[in-house]
Amino acid sequence: MASIFVLPVRTSNALNTFLKRTQVQTVLSFHSRNARRAASTRSTRHTLNTGAKIPAIGFGTFQDADAQVDAVSRALKAGCRLIDTARVYDVEKQVGHGIKESGVAREEVCVGTKLWCNNFHPDDVESALDDSLRDLDTPYVDLLMMHYPCTFARGEDRFPRDADGKMILGKTSFVETWKAMEKLVKTGKTKAIGVSNFSKGEIQQLLDQSDTVPAVHQMEVHPYLQQKDFNAWLRSKGIHVVQFSPLGNMNDFYRNTGWSKEVSHMTRVTDQPVLQEIGKKYGRSPVQVVLAWAVNSGRSAIPKSVIDWQIQQNLEADFEMEAEDMEKIAELDIKARFNDPSLDYQWRLYSDLEGTQGAVEGKTH
Ligand SMILES: NC(=O)c1ccc[n+]([C@@H]2O[C@H](COP(=O)([O-])OP(=O)(O)OC[C@H]3O[C@@H](n4cnc5c(N)ncnc54)[C@H](OP(=O)(O)O)[C@@H]3O)[C@@H](O)[C@H]2O)c1
Repeated sequence: MASIFVLPVRTSNALNTFLKRTQVQTVLSFHSRNARRAASTRSTRHTLNTGAKIPAIGFGTFQDADAQVDAVSRALKAGCRLIDTARVYDVEKQVGHGIKESGVAREEVCVGTKLWCNNFHPDDVESALDDSLRDLDTPYVDLLMMHYPCTFARGEDRFPRDADGKMILGKTSFVETWKAMEKLVKTGKTKAIGVSNFSKGEIQQLLDQSDTVPAVHQMEVHPYLQQKDFNAWLRSKGIHVVQFSPLGNMNDFYRNTGWSKEVSHMTRVTDQPVLQEIGKKYGRSPVQVVLAWAVNSGRSAIPKSVIDWQIQQNLEADFEMEAEDMEKIAELDIKARFNDPSLDYQWRLYSDLEGTQGAVEGKTH
C-alpha cells in the first residue's frame, strides 16, 4: 500500500527556480548508481483513430514565450516529435521559429494547436485556424482541438467581460463549432480534430450529433487525478488521451493563480516517496516515473520545460514499468484537480468527472 503525503508546502518560487536551474541531475546519477535494473529508454508512439501516429512523450509550450524558440528547437533536436501549443498561449510564432530552427522536417513533427473560446462561431473557425497556421508558419497542423467546451462572446477580445468583470458567453454551442472543425479536415489545414477539457456528457453530445469521433481528448491527468473510469470510457470510444499538466502541481502557475492556489499547495506529486522508491528501482527520477506511468497507461504526456536538462530528462522518460509499480502509483489518486477555471469562465466544467469539489465558490477564488 503506497503512503500518500498531502502536507501543505509553500516554497519560495525564486528559491525553487534557482535550485532547479542549478541542480543538474545529481539525483539522477545517484539513482543510476543504485538502480537494481537498468530500464532501456523507448520512443513509444500511439495510434490515433485516424490511423496517424502520435508520440507518447511530447512538449508543452504554455508560458515563457521568450524562451520558446530555443526550447522548441532544443526539444526537437533532442528527439521530441510532438509539440503542443494553443492560440491563447501567444507562442505560435515562437513555436514556428523553433521548428524551423531545429532543422527537423515539418512532416516528422506532430504539431497540435487549440482554438480559443472567442472564435467558436462557425464563421470564425477557419479564419482562426488560418491565423494559427500563419503564425506557426506551416500549411497544416496535425491536430486542432477545441480548448474548452465553453463559448465566449464573438470578437477580438479573448476574455470578454462585462462591467463587473464577469465573462460574457457566446451563443454558439460547441457542437456547431465541432461541425465547422470537421470541415477543416477536408481542406487539409488540419489532419485531425480533438477536444480539451470536456466532460463525458459533452463528448457524448459530439458523438451523438456529429460524424467525427474526436481523435484526442487533452485533459488533466497525473497520479493525483487519474480519472480511471473516464480514461477507460475514452479508450472504449477510440479517443486517445493526451495528459496536460502531467506532473500535477509542479507548475507554479497553479500555485499562484486564483482558481487553484489553495488546492495546489499540497505536496508536489513528484515529492511522493513512493515515486522516489520506484525511481530508484529503475534508475530514474520521480518525474520520469510519472511520465512513464502515462506512457505505460497508453496515453501521451506533454510536459513543459524550458530548462535543458529537464527537457532531456523528460524525453528520456519512456521505459517499461512493471505492473506492481503501476499498481503502487494507482494508489496516489486523491482526485485533486488543479486546472478548473469554471467560476471564472461561467461554465461548470468537468461536471460529471472526478476532482471538481475544489472549485466551490469562495474556496478557489
Ligand atoms: N488544454 C489545456 O487546457 C492545458 C492546460 C494546461 C497545460 N496544457 C499543456 O500542457 C503543458 C504542460 O502543462 P503544465 O506546464 O501545466 O504542467 P507540467 O508539464 O506538468 O509542469 C511544468 C512544470 O514542471 C517543471 N518541470 C518540467 N520538467 C521537469 C523536470 N524534469 N524536473 C523538474 N521540473 C520539471 C517546469 O519547470 P520549468 O518551466 O522551470 O522548466 C514547469 O514548472 C503546457 O505547456 C500546455 O502545452 C494544456
